[in-house]
Amino acid sequence: MSNDTLLIKHTVSGKEAEYPLLKGVLGADSADLRSLNKDFGCYSYDPGFTITASCKSKITYIDGDKGILLYRGYPIEQLAEHCEFMEVAYLLMNGELPDVTQLRDFNEEISDRAIIHEALRKFFDGFHYDAHPMAMLVGVVGSLSAFYHSELNVKDLEHRRICATRMIGKMPTIAAASYRHSIGRPFVYPRMDLNYCENFLNMMFSRSSQNYIDQQHYIDPTLVKALNLLFILHADHEQNASTSTVRLVGSTGANPYACVAAGIAALWGPLHGGANEAVLNMLAEIGVAENVPKYIAKAKDHNDPFRLAGFGHRVYKNFDPRAIIIRKTCHEVLTKASINDPLFDLALVLEEQALKDEYFIEKKLYPNVDFYSGIIYKALNIPVNMFTVMFAIARTSGWVSHWLESMEESSIPIGRPRQLYLGPETREFIPINER
Ligand code: SDX
Repeated sequence: MSNDTLLIKHTVSGKEAEYPLLKGVLGADSADLRSLNKDFGCYSYDPGFTITASCKSKITYIDGDKGILLYRGYPIEQLAEHCEFMEVAYLLMNGELPDVTQLRDFNEEISDRAIIHEALRKFFDGFHYDAHPMAMLVGVVGSLSAFYHSELNVKDLEHRRICATRMIGKMPTIAAASYRHSIGRPFVYPRMDLNYCENFLNMMFSRSSQNYIDQQHYIDPTLVKALNLLFILHADHEQNASTSTVRLVGSTGANPYACVAAGIAALWGPLHGGANEAVLNMLAEIGVAENVPKYIAKAKDHNDPFRLAGFGHRVYKNFDPRAIIIRKTCHEVLTKASINDPLFDLALVLEEQALKDEYFIEKKLYPNVDFYSGIIYKALNIPVNMFTVMFAIARTSGWVSHWLESMEESSIPIGRPRQLYLGPETREFIPINER
């Protein structure tokens, strides 16, 4: 524990108070301002919590200036190169990489939990065929506590672990069911003989129906490898908006399915996980390379609401390391699948011109994880409105890991930010006939 402190002095009253600077293993210190209101009768003002450490965590570390991303201390580049997604999900949940036996048992447990209650399938009948898959995901995940209420004691460590692995196991099944419902195809059951990524692609695209298991599964290993990478890169990202939402909802003691459903809802926004869908829609709107300068000008014009989807980041003021990895995989997947995707070529032109533009250089706006991921999802034949669902499948491992970590805290204060009130002062009520 360091003795460094922050001295704050009120310039009118002259009162001073010292606040401990808490030191992290990596990254900036955090000033412990919890007694600020008692000492000075004021709050700290930080809309969007952009400089507020909302918790202590050991899971993920980001250095936005250096473009560094660590999961439990391991650089994302090494995990992306060497791991299967289940290894990373285990690492995020448990803090250490699994050995062979632990990974085998974890894979078995996750596969075992992939099946969903038959009554849950009926939920999908209530959705219109053209319902957005994210709307279906929020609704169905939020209802899981209606089916699995026996192990919901959030004070019980084993119950918490079961809920976490259940979420990781069932998310691909619910996601694939959302897609199958939207195209009017029968649902496909998860299979114990396929790994996590193969299972998802099989449930999405198999020609089989729920009545029989398709003995063949048409899954290209290149596409499975690309999906495995995308899931690893999207698995966690510190206290982003959706993870912070999961923690905030968890601080009320709500059940983990409600917490994850809240995280899915937060992820849906186009400024967050919805950006990958927004990138493809933006590229389709730009259409051809000749239009790129016009759209870059629109993105720079503050009177124009248009922003470059997939560019900029709240934390990274350098390249998002995930974007660098995905960009390389984009090339591999498109080349291997001999897909000449004009949208990828257009994305390269847009990236090149934006990165040369003074506005983007000065504001340190670089492509983020969402800029290229949509192009790979498109190469995997994932429909655009499923892109954020893909993000949610991967991020479930991060959400449940942060939820587990927050539940281990001896005392979690319920999340309750204050405000700077600018409304009317106290005034007398006026009856309607006198207004
Ligand atoms: C994700 O938090 C996470 O970790 C998220 C995530 C994760 O893994 O969980 O990494 C996933 O959400 C990635 C981000 C996906 N979103 C997008 O790609 C949407 C487009 N990007 C932006 O809307 C924006 O960059 C944000 C929301 C991502 C970040 O916004 P900030 O940090 O609040 O930055 P800002 O809005 O204050 O912008 C600073 C300046 C502004 O100009 P000025 O008012 O200072 O003149 O940069 C401009 C902005 O107008 N700007 C952009 C821009 N992003 C910021 N201008 C044009 N195009 C953009 N994309």
